Amino acid sequence: MHYPFEPYRIKAVEPIPILSREARIKRIEEARYNLFLLKAEHVTIDFLTDSGTGAMSAAQWAALQQGDESYAGARSFSHFISTIRSYMPFKHIFPAHQGRAAEHLLFSVVMKPGFIVPNNTHFDTTRGNVEYLKGEAVDIGSSEGMQASEEHPFKGNMDCDRLRNLLEKNADLVPLVMITVTDNASGGQPVSMENIRTVKAICDEFNKPLFIDACRFAENAYFIKTCEPGYEDHSIESIVREMFSYADGMTMSAKKDCLVNIGGWVACNNDAWAQQIEDQLILFEGFPTYGGLAGRDLDAIAVGLTEVMDEAYLRARVGAVAYFADALEAVGVPVIRPPGGHAVFVDALACLPHVDALAYPGQALAVSLYVEGGVRSVEVGTVMFGKQPDGTEKPAKRDWIRLALPRRVYTQSHLDYTVDVFKRVLECKDNLKGFRIVREQAHLRHFTAHFEPIKNS
Ligand code: F0G
Repeated sequence: MHYPFEPYRIKAVEPIPILSREARIKRIEEARYNLFLLKAEHVTIDFLTDSGTGAMSAAQWAALQQGDESYAGARSFSHFISTIRSYMPFKHIFPAHQGRAAEHLLFSVVMKPGFIVPNNTHFDTTRGNVEYLKGEAVDIGSSEGMQASEEHPFKGNMDCDRLRNLLEKNADLVPLVMITVTDNASGGQPVSMENIRTVKAICDEFNKPLFIDACRFAENAYFIKTCEPGYEDHSIESIVREMFSYADGMTMSAKKDCLVNIGGWVACNNDAWAQQIEDQLILFEGFPTYGGLAGRDLDAIAVGLTEVMDEAYLRARVGAVAYFADALEAVGVPVIRPPGGHAVFVDALACLPHVDALAYPGQALAVSLYVEGGVRSVEVGTVMFGKQPDGTEKPAKRDWIRLALPRRVYTQSHLDYTVDVFKRVLECKDNLKGFRIVREQAHLRHFTAHFEPIKNS
């Protein structure tokens, strides 16, 4: 196990809250056993998400000062657009306040009730946006991606046979094909260049545009460089340019691979769609040269977009995730192999086989990690994906928890501490009980649901 060298040093620090076990039991009860409802000041190590939680560089903080806050035509907008376009040369690029706003802008223009969107795996907000507009979000990830313990370098790949079948049967109902890099919902697994190229060729056959949900494009590019034959000597920038050369558009959450705390964009080459997206943008987000962001945010995004492609940074980033996964596995935690780019995923059902899938083993494991050590993770299983559009509930395909690493925030000792917390959880795991939901919303219920422990599950 090797912990990678971080190519930066710390310039500003923030204290970490440390609570007693008794205090944590009280806090999680108050939060109705939903980790999203905890106050961050009661969390010791926060692995809830890698989204918007990263540390900005000195250069990004300096860029904030350069922000041009003019309502229209700001210099910051030109900086934003020219930086994006140098890697992702789309004709139309619109800023949005985050990824789901970009998704909403896109889908509100391209979707009609009954339409189908194929994706390797929809992230929950992407699925939510498609379903909200009465469309069907169909996941067609590769079969390797479904095998939790199988080592395959590109488990995020799309199943091209299933894509072809779907298009042969239902091309009229498909407005676009989407591919998510890395495939967050299936473990942060990367997609190979070969797969993107093949998906694009199939899209061309059926005259369908290919969109990339690009949140973690740089981590994906690093996997292509290190795992895909023929790319060893390519720079990250050239890999990124090739990835996007196959796309007709993209949605982006800058909160991930632009190393900022807020922001995103939607881009496309289709003039008619762009016109309608712009109308929606003005109505709901802001004027097209700021799209719901401050000028300074656009500058910080532009700087982060360049910084994230530093190979030394990506080596440290992906290396820290691999170190964490190996260290957890060494103490007996069933981690999903190989580790992805931004998070370690743990198979909660394998860890707690005595907890029924409909009693949410992922939630039970996540709550226990908080109680034992103040570690916040997130359930990615039946709570998140089990609710069906008809209101019934089914066990999700996987019951995992995710520990997502904020970028440039935690060090090796924080990861080692978390491994010790897991050891304590494993010692008492046979006594852990499941949960039931006592309150939930129609969409994205995991964010706000209230839970209650099941006494005798
Ligand atoms: N697409 C993917 C693949 C994502 O992982 C996310 C966000 C989004 C779209 C939406 O972006 O949050 O800026 O609106 N993922 C975060 C996460 C929330 O924790 O994985 P957003």
